[in-house]
Amino acid sequence: MKVCKLIHVMGGLAAAFGLSLAQAADAVPELAKTKECMSCHAVDKDMPKAPSFRDIAKKYNGMANVETMLVQKVREGGVGHWGANPMPGTGARAKVSEDEAQALVAWVLSQK
Ligand code: HEC
Repeated sequence: MKVCKLIHVMGGLAAAFGLSLAQAADAVPELAKTKECMSCHAVDKDMPKAPSFRDIAKKYNGMANVETMLVQKVREGGVGHWGANPMPGTGARAKVSEDEAQALVAWVLSQK
């Protein structure tokens, strides 16, 4: 009886975890839209204002510890990795939290 109950609880946990992962993956493109990322970037073609997320993923593919730098860039902006066009800081675009930036960076890096 006890074992049955334990298995039941574990199954429930796994289902809840699987669901939240799936939701997180679906939520990113929505997040990319609400945070206005797509007003400058496209997933697979270079825009006049910014490199494509695919090119960004290819450039950083396999590099160690690159997420920290990219999370900071997504939150605070920066310039010089792709050309003279700056990615503006939070004053000029929607505020992005640390968690949101991490989700966005993981999604961008998976676009290779
Ligand atoms: C106003 C236009 C603009 C918006 C809005 C914008 N970006 Fe960018 N982004 C750029 C430009 C320009 C660069 C290239 C900067 C450089 O050369 O270092 C860039 C670079 C990047 C990079 C690569 C950084 C690097 O150092 O190579 C990532 C990742 C990125 N953007 C993600 C995002 C995400 C996620 C959002 C939404 C939260 C976003 N961008 C919104 C213009 C923009």
